[in-house]
Amino acid sequence: FNPVDMIARRRANQREDTDDELQVWIQQYVQQKVPDYQMAAWLMAVCFHPLSPRETATLTRCYAESGIILDWPEEVATNDGLLITRKPRPPMVDKHSSGGVGDKVSLILAPLVAACDDLLPVWVPMMAGRGLGHTGGTIDKLESLVGYNPRQSVENFQKIVQDVGCAIICATREICPADQRLYALRDVTSTVSSLPLQTASIMSKKIAEHPDSITLDVKFGHGSFNPSIEEAERLAKAMVAVGEANGLHPTTAFLTDMNFPLGYAVGNWLEVKECIEILKGNVADRRFKLSWDLIILVVIQAGQMLYQSQYHRIGTTNESGGSSSISAPGEPSRLLYSLDRCTKHAYQVLDSGRVLEKFRQMMLAQGADPSYLEQAIEEPNSIALASFVSTWTFEGTAGYIHDVPAKTIGDISVTIGAGRIVANQVVDAQAGLVFFKQVGDAVTAGDIIVSVYTNQSQEQADNALKAVQEAIVIQAEDLPNPRGPIIT
Ligand code: URA
Repeated sequence: FNPVDMIARRRANQREDTDDELQVWIQQYVQQKVPDYQMAAWLMAVCFHPLSPRETATLTRCYAESGIILDWPEEVATNDGLLITRKPRPPMVDKHSSGGVGDKVSLILAPLVAACDDLLPVWVPMMAGRGLGHTGGTIDKLESLVGYNPRQSVENFQKIVQDVGCAIICATREICPADQRLYALRDVTSTVSSLPLQTASIMSKKIAEHPDSITLDVKFGHGSFNPSIEEAERLAKAMVAVGEANGLHPTTAFLTDMNFPLGYAVGNWLEVKECIEILKGNVADRRFKLSWDLIILVVIQAGQMLYQSQYHRIGTTNESGGSSSISAPGEPSRLLYSLDRCTKHAYQVLDSGRVLEKFRQMMLAQGADPSYLEQAIEEPNSIALASFVSTWTFEGTAGYIHDVPAKTIGDISVTIGAGRIVANQVVDAQAGLVFFKQVGDAVTAGDIIVSVYTNQSQEQADNALKAVQEAIVIQAEDLPNPRGPIIT
C-alpha cells in the first residue's frame, strides 16, 4: 500500500477506489501511519474529483467503523424502591446540522426534545462537532461553560443519556476517531465543503451513535458550505440515502437559509448566553425578537424529532389514556400524534422554561462546574466578556438593513479568536459579535447595530468592526421577508 498512489489516483481521477483501498487508507490514517500532509493532499484531490455514491457510502462506514458502534439496550429497568420493573427504552432521535454562522440550535434542541417526555419520551444521544471554517461548533460553544467535558467514555455517554434523556459529546478515540482527526484537518485545509466529505463526516457520527432515526438541518447560502439550494439538496439526498441504508429510519432533512447569522450572537460564550435566555422560556416576549429565527428553527426541528420518534415507539398510550398498538415503521397514518401536535407541544415546553432544568442536568452530568454553571444561568451578565470592545452606533440616513452577510461575519469571528486558523488551536470562548439589529430591521441615527468582542487588542476590535460595517448593507427602502424558506 502506497499513500502516494492513493493521492495520485484521486488527483488524476483515474478510477474509483475499491472498498478495500478506502478501508486501508482510513485505517492507516487513524493508526497514524499516514501523516496529516498526505491526508490533506488526498482531501484536496477529493474536492476536485468527488467520490462516487458507492465510495461515499464506503468512506462513511470506514469512518464509523474506525471506532465503536454503540449498542443500546432494548429495555430499561426502573426501581421504585419496592419493585424493579423493566420497560422498553424510549426511542432515540438525533439531529445534525451541516454548519452555519450563529447556529446554536443543538444547545437548545437536545434538552428540549428530552424535556417533552410528558407527551413522548425520547432519548437524544448527540455527537456534535467543533467549529469548522467560518462556522461555529456546538462543542466549542458548550466548552465555554467551565468543566463541561465532551469527551465521555461510551459507558458514561450511555448512562447520561439514560439518566437525563440527552447528552452532547464529540468524536473521540473510542467513537468515530477517523472523523475526530479528519474534521480538525479539514477545518484548516479548506476542504470542508466537499459533498462526500461532509456526508461521511456527519453520517459516520450518526451511524456510530446509533439512534433509531435522525433529522438533518442542511444549510444553504454563503454562510454554509453549500452556497446554492441545489447543492444543499444534493447533500441532503446523499445523507438521507446513507442514513436509510444504515437503518436510521426515517432519516429526514430540512433545507434552511444560512445567508444571515442565526439569532443575535456569534461566538462561543455569547451564543451560549443567548441560548440560556431562551431556555428560561416565555419566548413570545418582545425581547426575543432578535432570536426569533433561531426559536422557529428549534421548535420545527423538535416537532419533527418527536413526530418521527413514534416510528419506533412501542405500546404508547394515546391522547385519551388508552393503549395503542405498536406503531410500525413506514406507517405514518398510525402514529398517535400529528406533526402539528408535536411541534405545538415543543413550543409550549420551550415557552414553559422547564427545558433549562434539563440543560442544567445534562451539563452537570458532563462535568460542568456547578457554581460556574449557576452563575452562567442566574447571572449571565456577570460572566466576563472579552477585554476589547468596539461598537457601531449608526449615524447615517435612516433606512433598513438589507444584508448581514453570514460568511463575512463568520470569517471575522474566526479572525478575532472565536474559530481556528491552525489545527487544534484553542478558541477564545469570549470573542464574538452581538447584533442589536437584524436583516429587515429599520435603523435610524443613534441606533446601536453591533458590538465586536476580542481579547487580541483594541486595534483588532476596531478593524473587525470596520469590516462588519463595510459588509452590512443598509438601504432606504423596506425589505419584506428577507429570510429564505424552510424546506422539508
Ligand atoms: N458537521 C460535521 O460534523 N461535519 C461536516 O463536515 C459539516 C458539519
